[in-house]
Amino acid sequence: MKILIMNGPNLNMLGRRDPKHYGSQTLAEIYEKLKARFGGIDLEFFQSNHEGGLIDRLHQADGSFDGVVLNAGALTHYSIALRDAIDSVEVPVVEVHLSNIAARESFRNHSVIAPVCRGSISGFGMQSYMLGIQAIIDLTADGEA
Ligand code: DQA
Repeated sequence: MKILIMNGPNLNMLGRRDPKHYGSQTLAEIYEKLKARFGGIDLEFFQSNHEGGLIDRLHQADGSFDGVVLNAGALTHYSIALRDAIDSVEVPVVEVHLSNIAARESFRNHSVIAPVCRGSISGFGMQSYMLGIQAIIDLTADGEA
C-alpha cells in the first residue's frame, strides 16, 4: 500500500509558524511520527510552496498511489486549479488540516477542494494526518477507496 502525504504553502514553516494553531512540531517531526505509526505502509512525502508543483505531483501520483493525504494550506480556500487537478485524477484524495478551519477566520471556513476530495478531516493537529492515512487504508481494504 502506497500513500502520498502532500503539504502546500508555508507548511515547511511548522514549528515556527503560529504554534497556537499549528502546534510546535516541525514537518520533519510529523513525518517521522507518521512513519513510526504506519510502519507497514509505504509513505511518501512532498511539500511545495507552489500551486503548480502540487498539481504536477498530484498528476504524477495518479495510478501509482492508493491514496493521497493533502494539506493544501491556504490554497484550500481559493485554488480552483488545485480543485480541478484533484477532480481530474482517479486516486482518492483526503483533505486534512491541523487546525479546525470551521472555527477560524471566515476566509478559512470555506474549502474549494472539499467537494472533490474523498473526505475532509480538520482540527486534530497531527492526528488529522493519521486519521487521513487510516481512512485510506480502511477504504482500500473495503474496496471503497
Ligand atoms: C491549514 C489551514 C489553512 O487555513 C492555512 O492556510 C494553512 C494550514 C491547517 O493545516 O490548519 O496553511 O491548512
